[in-house]
Amino acid sequence: MPNDSETLLGTGVALRGALAGKRVVVTGGAGAIGSNLSAALCGAGCEVVVVDDFSSGYRANLEALAGRIRLVEGDLAEEATLAEAFAKPVALIFHLAAFFANQNSVDHPHADLRTNGQATLSLVQRAAALGVERFVFASSSCVYGSQGGALGEGSPLQPETPYGITKILGEQYCEFFGCHAGLSWAIVRYFNSYGPGEYPGRYRNVIPNFFAQAMIGRPLVITGTGEETRDFTFVGDIVRGTLLAGITPGAAGQILNLGTGRETTIRELAEEINQLCGNLAGVEYRPRREWDHVNRRRADITRARELLGYAPETPLRSGLCRTHHWFCARHTGRQPATPALARLVETALG
Ligand SMILES: NC(=O)c1ccc[n+]([C@@H]2O[C@H](COP(=O)([O-])OP(=O)(O)OC[C@H]3O[C@@H](n4cnc5c(N)ncnc54)[C@H](O)[C@@H]3O)[C@@H](O)[C@H]2O)c1
Repeated sequence: MPNDSETLLGTGVALRGALAGKRVVVTGGAGAIGSNLSAALCGAGCEVVVVDDFSSGYRANLEALAGRIRLVEGDLAEEATLAEAFAKPVALIFHLAAFFANQNSVDHPHADLRTNGQATLSLVQRAAALGVERFVFASSSCVYGSQGGALGEGSPLQPETPYGITKILGEQYCEFFGCHAGLSWAIVRYFNSYGPGEYPGRYRNVIPNFFAQAMIGRPLVITGTGEETRDFTFVGDIVRGTLLAGITPGAAGQILNLGTGRETTIRELAEEINQLCGNLAGVEYRPRREWDHVNRRRADITRARELLGYAPETPLRSGLCRTHHWFCARHTGRQPATPALARLVETALG
């Protein structure tokens, strides 16, 4: 079981009612967010088709859903994958598959374009031809680049990596097919999702990498001064906002930030995680990555609050506790510092 996403909808009776019985395609459904979204959709009584090539997703993320989803394993940029995924009519598409993320796209810009550009275009085109009820595209706060302050959806687009550029490309395909082919779309811009389902790795986010280091007693590596901030958002809140974007009539044709509206410094984050894991090794500072100029990042979530009734519920401390439990259960049983986790960290982080 990746997490408790199926219970996310416990309080959302209206959400469950709107989703029950629908056939839904989740691209990237084996990924960190997609697996939680798929679990929530199963819990709401949807017929879920997961499309994934496991390039950055994990089979373990789908273990608990075995027998309850249809898995189409393949590359979305291949026509055969799309043909299999859309063999039967589909009501909703949640497009989360992506070449993840900034550093990876700097190292491999063509691969980034293939998935985030070309595959997204093929999918949007197909969604428009099928006349789906809603196409939800997972975009990113990276489209705002390194601007500070509270970022609203109207803030200028200033991507600083190929990943940021192709996320804007995906957004613009949605808008084009909305205008010219009547596609009903919604774009969600995620701000630093974290939680169960995300494994550490060279190209992954700071939180799983901090946990991996802390749980084997290593200092947490901070690239920068530690005073940089991010808007860390628990995956359960991200999933709820994404589902609302899929079914709320007023979300059609809208771009919506999904974050918390709160900033946390990387230094504070490291201290929290070291404390949770009982890690006494502290932190180690290294130079910032060349492309990374983001000093502060925080979402303005007014639009999502007003249009979707989106309200992030998970305080950072409680989200980190849930993530820590998942790490312990997934990698180590009861004892955190086992050879299995150490091997994972060696392979993932070098
Ligand atoms: N995690 C975050 O903090 C964050 C922030 C902003 C935006 N996003 C976006 O949200 C979405 C989900 O992010 P995530 O953290 O779950 O990433 P992830 O890497 O865990 O999941 C992406 C999934 O897509 C699959 N995939 C990649 N290329 C594919 C292809 N060509 N064909 C089929 N499947 C393919 C991967 O195997 C993986 O399972 C992505 O679009 C990402 O860009 C995430």
